[in-house]
Amino acid sequence: MNHRVYQESIAHWGGYQDEFPRNRDEVLANLTKWYSEGRPLLTKDALRNVQEQLNKPLQEGDKVWTIGYDGVKVGWEGSVKLSQLSDEEEYMDGLEYYVVSAHMFYHPFCSLKRNVKYYGDTDSAYSSLSVMHLLGQRDIVTKLPPVCPSYTTEESRDVLQRSIRAWEVSETCSHLKNTLSSVLSRHPIDKIVGFSCSSISRSGCEDRDLRYGIQHALLLTVRSLLERTTGCTTEHEVSCYIQDPAYNDVDKTVFQEQGMQVVDDPQGFLEVDESSIIFSCASNVAVKEMITELARPAIIIWDKVEESQIATGDEDQDAFDSSTDPISPRVFDMISNCYDSYTFLPDLNFTEMAVYVRK
Ligand SMILES: C[S@@+](CC[C@H](N)C(=O)[O-])C[C@H]1O[C@@H](n2cnc3c(N)ncnc32)[C@H](O)[C@@H]1O
Repeated sequence: MNHRVYQESIAHWGGYQDEFPRNRDEVLANLTKWYSEGRPLLTKDALRNVQEQLNKPLQEGDKVWTIGYDGVKVGWEGSVKLSQLSDEEEYMDGLEYYVVSAHMFYHPFCSLKRNVKYYGDTDSAYSSLSVMHLLGQRDIVTKLPPVCPSYTTEESRDVLQRSIRAWEVSETCSHLKNTLSSVLSRHPIDKIVGFSCSSISRSGCEDRDLRYGIQHALLLTVRSLLERTTGCTTEHEVSCYIQDPAYNDVDKTVFQEQGMQVVDDPQGFLEVDESSIIFSCASNVAVKEMITELARPAIIIWDKVEESQIATGDEDQDAFDSSTDPISPRVFDMISNCYDSYTFLPDLNFTEMAVYVRK
């Protein structure tokens, strides 16, 4: 695949027509009211339900159902029309797009509000889960995908080993180990879930390869620390799940050799519970909001949460620098009220990060 393009399906609100959410102001007022009342935006059951529907082969005309914030079903068309792409996108360099697979996508609360405010699609106004189609590119004539540079399994193993060596001698690593050693006894922990650490086999840019490798190396360090602290036996190993749609078969082989379990979206989110350590850095999905809705992990290592970065969806469109993994008011409240905060040293292989330990 040359590059990844996602296209959202068309949504159909499934309630009674006389209750259709037509008025933008009313929709925004409802969203704000339900959110401030503490109504959950996402549950594990809702994720499992969409996961099950998407695991079945979809035929033309099928719909995938999600439940909106108003409690009403929204049907997403199971197929997508490629004619909606512009000619330029569709026929670039003798390549055409085709649908690879359907995925669920989570829209954070601030995007729900902004979508209503600025784009006004009331059919999906209340639905934080939607259905996206991953499009691939292939040659118009031969229908074969273009050949993309990628490391071999051996080369990718080497990237990971070099990353582990660089990480293990870093000050950031020893500081993190000291921090974790002082807090690990506070909660029982049997699982690590890493989100969005990216592929180590496709980049071809040395700094980036090492950055992605180092984020995986961090997960291995946390696992061995946990196993040593808890005196793990082979029957009670610490599981380590990793989720990123960027992984290809080479990545999967290399990470599985390290005992990491590669999972598809949304399985990583379903795995997260009170006895988990989770890691995420600069994600392209709303990891912070999804986790906040679903669980209270024992330890969280992710981009530092700051009050000045809270995104409510009420910001002025022009002045707003939207994040793919925003800090919603609930994320901020969860971190401030339920977690103690510890320093993660500044390091170019990460964004500005912090370690959060449940109180
Ligand atoms: C900006 S990159 C950050 C990569 C790396 N963590 C870093 O700090 O450079 C965002 C990552 O989020 C990943 N991502 C996108 N959708 C995701 C999903 N549904 N679950 C997990 N990761 C996802 C992308 O594939 C990509 O690797």
